[in-house]
Amino acid sequence: MGELSAASSSAPAGSPVPRHVAIVMDGNGRWARKRFMPRVYGHKVGMETVVKIIDHCQHRGIEYLTLYAFSSENWKRPEEEVSGLMNLVLVGVSRYLAGLARKGVRIRVVGDRSKVSPKVREAWNLAEVQTADNPGLTLTVAFNYGGRWDIAQACQSAMRAGLTADEITEEQLGRHMAMSHAPDPDLFIRTGGEVRISNFLLWQLAYAELLFTDCLWPDFDEAELDKAVTEFARRDRRFGGVKTQTSSDAAA
Ligand code: IPE
Ligand code: IPE
Ligand code: MG
Repeated sequence: MGELSAASSSAPAGSPVPRHVAIVMDGNGRWARKRFMPRVYGHKVGMETVVKIIDHCQHRGIEYLTLYAFSSENWKRPEEEVSGLMNLVLVGVSRYLAGLARKGVRIRVVGDRSKVSPKVREAWNLAEVQTADNPGLTLTVAFNYGGRWDIAQACQSAMRAGLTADEITEEQLGRHMAMSHAPDPDLFIRTGGEVRISNFLLWQLAYAELLFTDCLWPDFDEAELDKAVTEFARRDRRFGGVKTQTSSDAAA
């Protein structure tokens, strides 16, 4: 059940720093191909970018970072790539978990864990258990995650909890969504040049500011994140209402 009201949009309008950033880390394969390297090499380097970006989010005071690491549809990739990605989870947890825990990062994993191997499941469970009480950045990894899966599982979970059809409101359903531990994302970033959501957080992105960049994920760095945050601060968030008049507007 949710720790936060799921329909909450976190950062107030005009806030310079998004409270929750959600990223589709795309472009690893093309980055590797440009270097005549296998796709899995791109994923490996992409994992180093992840560590850099976690640090920088903490530095910038971002409270929640959600990373799309493996979609419900990514099983369609060649077996070698899928097993390479699964192996990277094991490598990543053994290499980086202790350091992240020391920095106070709290790790959560969202997605259908029933379909992944016991080893990968155990690695994610370990990461969650060892960091559960940490007070710092909440890092959510979307793994075998799909936005449609999330909505369907939330309905199932709500019905299992005994809710009747009339009781399934937006707020109630939100409490059963996989991201109920976090406020809705304020800023969505997709690297890699594609302009689509690819079944990421369909429910939660309702009022996120969307930002697409051609930068391939392994090239994404602190300066790119700073640029995205600057662009976010320029956006006028209205949440369906009207722009609230500021004193400078009134003077104009
Ligand atoms: C995103 O990079 C990472 C995952 C889906 C795991 P891609 O592997 O999709 O890279 P491109 O889009 O083929 O370049
Ligand atoms: C989205 O990227 C999934 C992740 C980054 C994990 P894809 O590369 O799978 O998306 P499509 O196929 O271009 O839509
Ligand atoms: Mg891709």
